[in-house]
Amino acid sequence: MVDLRFSRRALLSAGALGILGGLALRRARAQEALLPATPQCGDDHGPTPRQTEGPYFTPNSPERTSLVEAGMEGERIALAGFVLDRRCRPVPGALLDLWHCDATGRYDNAGYRLRGHQFSDPQGRFVFETIIPGRYPTRTRHFHIKVQAPGARVLTTQLYFPGEAGNDRDWIFDETLLLDIKRENGAALGRYDFILDV
Ligand SMILES: [Fe+2]
Repeated sequence: MVDLRFSRRALLSAGALGILGGLALRRARAQEALLPATPQCGDDHGPTPRQTEGPYFTPNSPERTSLVEAGMEGERIALAGFVLDRRCRPVPGALLDLWHCDATGRYDNAGYRLRGHQFSDPQGRFVFETIIPGRYPTRTRHFHIKVQAPGARVLTTQLYFPGEAGNDRDWIFDETLLLDIKRENGAALGRYDFILDV
C-alpha cells in the first residue's frame, strides 16, 4: 500500500494558506502546502480499482483547480494526492477529471457545476478544492473521477468517505478507494494516491 499521511505541518500550512477559505491560490502553491515533494510507497500496492462511470458524466469539463462557487452549500474539502505508476514513480501531466453531486445529492447535468479537470504537476501531484458531496438514495457518499496518464488508458473510478453508514450497503463500495480524511483548523483534507496500470 502507498503509505503517505498528511503531516501536521502540512495541515497547518493548508489552514494558514486558507485553501479552504475560498482564496484564489495558485495550484502549485496549494500542492506545495498539501503534499510532500515525493511520494513514499510500500511494495504491496496494485493499480487503483476501476469502477463504473455511472449515468452522470459530462465530457469537456472546464480545466480548473476549484469547483467551489459563490454561495455554494456544503463543507469545503481539498482533495489531493499523487498520480503514480505501478513502480511508485510520479506521473506528471496526468489528466484528472472530477465530478460529483452537490450537498443535497443532485448532479448538474445541464452545465458544469461541480465538474472540472486538471493535470498532475511535475511531481505527479494534484489538488482540487471542492465540497463534500451529499448523498442520494441509491448510493453512499462518493466522488467520481477519471485519471489518465498521457497516452494511456483512462482509469474511471470513485472515491469514498470513511465512517459512512451507507458504505456497507452500497453495491460497489470498495474500501481500497477510501479517502484518508483529516480535519484541522476547520479545514477538511481528503487524500488519495492513484496508482495507474502503467
Ligand atoms: Fe454518483
